[in-house]
Amino acid sequence: MNIFLIGFRGAGKTSVGKILAQRLNRKYIDADEYLEQKEGKTIKDIFEEGGEGKFREIESDVIAELCLQNNTVIATGGGVVLKEENVKRMKKCGVAILLEADVDTLYKRIKGDITSTTKRPGLTNYGEYQEVRYLLEKRKPLYDKTADFVVNTAKTSIGEAAGKIASFIENCVIDFDMG
Ligand code: S3P
Repeated sequence: MNIFLIGFRGAGKTSVGKILAQRLNRKYIDADEYLEQKEGKTIKDIFEEGGEGKFREIESDVIAELCLQNNTVIATGGGVVLKEENVKRMKKCGVAILLEADVDTLYKRIKGDITSTTKRPGLTNYGEYQEVRYLLEKRKPLYDKTADFVVNTAKTSIGEAAGKIASFIENCVIDFDMG
């Protein structure tokens, strides 16, 4: 069973994912990094050359490939839930853990992350803050529908968030063992 971390840009999927993988003694893969390595280009370049549509196609191929992993913690890109086929695949080969936070927290984290320039091209014509607000509202139903477990990272440390997920996973395994 894989553990997919889902949620908006800046929700903490990468930071929490790395700690969680260490705690559970599992492999960790960042889907965006895997995608950039596979294509030999940054996400920004992929958007510039082929638009968001092209990026979403590659992202779906990446999810299909990552589903071949086992017992791996996988941090996904914030838009992974936009395609039903991605959601179906993730749920078939793992559990989906939603990391969530309020708009202000997400915006501050995105602005403070130097990788945003290459990893997070603009997705709308809105200003950066408005984009977070608009897209979060639009995606929230998809995140909620996909999630098997939810952790709010606005007021918890990375370690605490990883701890909550680890307990959830340990209970899942017990339920699974007991049939
Ligand atoms: C995206 C989020 C990014 C990356 C791409 C698209 C999105 O990943 O996949 O820029 O649509 O929200 P992070 O959530 O890791 O920033």
